[in-house]
Amino acid sequence: MKDILETAIKAAKLAGNVIKMSRPAEINLKSTADYVTEIDLICQNIIIDNIENNFPDHEILAEENGGFFRKTNKLWIIDPLDGTTNFIRNLSHSGVSIAFYDEGDLQVGVVYDPYRDELFSAIKGEGAFLNDKPIKVSETIEFKNSLFATGFPFRHPDKVKIYKNVFEEVLINCSGIRRMGSAALDLCWTASGRYDGFFEGWLAPWDIAAGALILREAGGIISDFYGSKDYLSTGCVVCGNHYVFDRLFEIVSKQLKEL
Ligand code: IPD
Ligand code: CA
Ligand code: CA
Repeated sequence: MKDILETAIKAAKLAGNVIKMSRPAEINLKSTADYVTEIDLICQNIIIDNIENNFPDHEILAEENGGFFRKTNKLWIIDPLDGTTNFIRNLSHSGVSIAFYDEGDLQVGVVYDPYRDELFSAIKGEGAFLNDKPIKVSETIEFKNSLFATGFPFRHPDKVKIYKNVFEEVLINCSGIRRMGSAALDLCWTASGRYDGFFEGWLAPWDIAAGALILREAGGIISDFYGSKDYLSTGCVVCGNHYVFDRLFEIVSKQLKEL
């Protein structure tokens, strides 16, 4: 998997540097509150060119080409710019997410934050790293002392009421909630112990894939809202360290699994 990791890192850094050096000139609406800029497309082309040059027979699922996750061998799952709204607004919190899926599981994950020059990476079974240093999830034991991250279901108005119930129950029982606007980085920040857990629903596979492996390899627990590991298909994610995960999962799942 080392050659896969090397390609993913090289592509993520090339794309990330473009993000860091650019401001968007063309902003287009794909669907409700879902934007794409010419920089998303340039970055996606850079990443795909790198993969195709090295692995011409592999399959690619990339956000700006669309498509659904299928359990296919030798599949790259790419979000060239996670946090496009932040990028458009000059909020300097976005990342590049590249994962490799094979033999029924995620094998490699890379998320690069160009603004902080932070490269999160993992190979299945070999631990998780931030710029070559091993990372672990937090050791916060008490839910009431935990800091969580979340994402709002802003593209799913029908889910907002029920999400508000979850938000309220988590909020009044923990020490704080952040909503930064990049699911890939939310997963990596949970993997590196900055957050104690993260929950968000109805995401796309490219938002989740790389960060999920990094989180797992950092010792975190991740599930969808239904208690299964099928988060790449459902797009629903709840994760955390092993002390606080159960309670977070219980609160999230009791409301949201009905949807
Ligand atoms: C978005 C971000 C955001 C999440 C959205 C995603 P994009 O990705 O991950 O945090 O709340 O649902 O779509 O569109 O910026 O690549
Ligand atoms: Ca995304
Ligand atoms: Ca994106």
